[in-house]
Amino acid sequence: MEVYLDNNATTMVDPKVFEEMKPFFTQKYGNPNSLHRFGAGVHPKMMEALNYLYEGIGASDEDDIIITANATEANNWILKSTWIDKILNGNKKQIITSEVEHPTITATCRFLQTQGVDVVFLQVNDEGIISAKSVEDAITKDTALVSIMWANNETGKIFPIKEIGKICKDKGVLFHSDATQAIGKVLVDVRDFNVDFLSFSAHKFHGPKGVGGLYIKEGLELTPLLHGGEQMGGKRAGTVDVASLVGMGYAMHLATNKEALAYENTFVKSLRDKLENEILKIPDTLLIGGAKNRTPNTSLISIKGVEGEAMLWDLNQNFIGASTGSACASEDLEANPVMSAIGNDSELAHTGIRFSLSRFNTKEEITYATQKILTAIKRLRGISSSYAYTPKNHKSQL
Ligand SMILES: Cc1ncc(COP(=O)(O)O)c(C=O)c1O
Repeated sequence: MEVYLDNNATTMVDPKVFEEMKPFFTQKYGNPNSLHRFGAGVHPKMMEALNYLYEGIGASDEDDIIITANATEANNWILKSTWIDKILNGNKKQIITSEVEHPTITATCRFLQTQGVDVVFLQVNDEGIISAKSVEDAITKDTALVSIMWANNETGKIFPIKEIGKICKDKGVLFHSDATQAIGKVLVDVRDFNVDFLSFSAHKFHGPKGVGGLYIKEGLELTPLLHGGEQMGGKRAGTVDVASLVGMGYAMHLATNKEALAYENTFVKSLRDKLENEILKIPDTLLIGGAKNRTPNTSLISIKGVEGEAMLWDLNQNFIGASTGSACASEDLEANPVMSAIGNDSELAHTGIRFSLSRFNTKEEITYATQKILTAIKRLRGISSSYAYTPKNHKSQL
């Protein structure tokens, strides 16, 4: 059996999404900007896809959603455009973010620091989130933008976006949220939550890779990241990848309707909890960030004495895919940065393993994976030089 438990890295394209995309490769391949029937013929499906995107994130018709290559581009764009529009060409100086954002935010912010931007990285508490109050306290008259993720990719912890949105609105500060890990897992509603800009990426919700979006609230302007053609109202030049847009729209529709979110929060959550509870019965294991306010599919667990990389190896041998952290960062063996930020000691930070499920996982897969994980823990602790059995843990099922 093969079990894929790394859905925060990427997800399988839903076969229904793939079916929707297929005609746009070999039949309806016209350039949407062309005036002939081949071009105009793709417009209805593009409009339908855009409508699904607006509906999925609670945007109003007056707002803009710009199709990007991914969330990386959307995150880079909002930060660099804020720098150009509000700091270089305006009277602001500061960007506020958190220390546990995805590297597409933190690395861009560190680049902006080299350009003289004052970046405040808010510290997280032992649950791995920041409070809305800490945002309120950090805002000054110099603040150009607050950028806080909706849900964390490692822990799944959900940030107090509604409260932060209200604070930013009351103080007249622009608010961006990276919702890459939230779409399809929890309700994302930009208007209700007072979010001005929102990033997302289709491949995290069973859409294709290489396509994402940046939501821009009505009336707000951004300096384009890509100049050239008039596509996307001149905000993001380049021929639109129609197949990908159609796929992303349909994937958004399938992932964010009421029934889909309910399924995620019942069935997927129950599988996640089953897996997690079995692992947490073992002594010296820890759920990073705690159980409250999490996306229903994610579990980041530290298993004392078991290097995350070694665990991945054992699981891989058993055809199980999991992660020690963000897929983009997993080639270097540095301690998991989110776990370090939460304040766990460095041994714990090296022993994190993330399981992230999806609606395509089954009960049978979770039963199989649980058994293999427990066996791997026993084997790896048995050969660990750092983990000694104590009378307390010796009596356990290990
Ligand atoms: C929270 C978050 N933001 C942004 C990204 C970047 O997404 P993409 O690789 O689609 O650009 C990721 C990917 O893991 C993510 O988890």
